[in-house]
Amino acid sequence: MEYARQPETGFYNAPVSMLHLLNHPLATHVVTHLRDRTTKPATFRTLAYQISLLLALEATRDLATREKTIQTPLEPHSGSVLSQPIVVVPILRAGISMVQPFTDLFPDVTIGYIGLERDEETAVARSYYCKLPPLGSKKVLILDPMLATGGSAVQAIKLVNAHRPADMRLVCIVCAPEGVRAVEEIDPPIGIVSAALDRELNTRKYILPGLGDFGDRLYGT
Ligand code: PRP
Ligand code: URA
Repeated sequence: MEYARQPETGFYNAPVSMLHLLNHPLATHVVTHLRDRTTKPATFRTLAYQISLLLALEATRDLATREKTIQTPLEPHSGSVLSQPIVVVPILRAGISMVQPFTDLFPDVTIGYIGLERDEETAVARSYYCKLPPLGSKKVLILDPMLATGGSAVQAIKLVNAHRPADMRLVCIVCAPEGVRAVEEIDPPIGIVSAALDRELNTRKYILPGLGDFGDRLYGT
C-alpha cells in the first residue's frame, strides 16, 4: 500500500487513520543497530531508550499549552507551559522499554499497563493484565515497539477507548503495513507514530526485515 505524505502535517495519508514516521538520521541510525542481530541486550535497551525519546518528542508535538507570565531576571515575559495531562500505556512486556523517556520528559505523566501476549502458533494476542488510571479527557499514548498483525494494538486501543480518553495515539518503533491497516479500521481513527514502516510479515507473522522478537532481545530470553 502506498502512503502519501501530507506536506502540512508530515503525516502519511492512510485510508482512515494517520501514520507518522520519524524523519531524522539519528532515528534510522538507531533502528539499524536495533535490527542488527549482533546487538546484545544491554545495547539493545539503550537503543530502545534513544529511539523512544525521539518518538516521545514526535508524538507530543501538538500537546496543548497555556500562557504563563513569568519574571526573567531582567523583565516580565509571557511564555507558555504544558496544559494537557498525558497518560502512557505500555503494552507488556516489550512496551516497558519505551516508558522511561516519557517519564524523563514529562514527570507528571501517569501510567497504565496492558498485558498482552501473542500465541506462538497462531500469533493471536491473549490479554492477561489491565490496570488503567482515569483516562477521561486525557491524552493517551499507547506504547508498543512492534506493530505486526495489529492484533495486540487493536485489543489495547479497544480497552483504552472504553474509558473515553480525549485523544489517543499509538507509538511504535517498527510497524508492518498489515498492522497499520488493522489500526486504520478502528473507529474513531487514531494516529500512529513510528520510527519505521517495514515491508511485510513472514508466515510466522514476524515483521520483515524487522528486528526479531523485541521482548526476547530486550530481556535476553
Ligand atoms: C510483541 C510486541 C507486540 C506484539 C505485536 O509482543 O511487543 O505486543 O508482539 O504483534 P501483533 O501486532 O501481531 O499483535 P509479544 O506478544 O511477543 O509479547 P512480549 O512483549 O511479552 O514479548
Ligand atoms: N513481535 C515482535 O517482537 N516482533 C515481530 O516481528 C512481530 C511481533
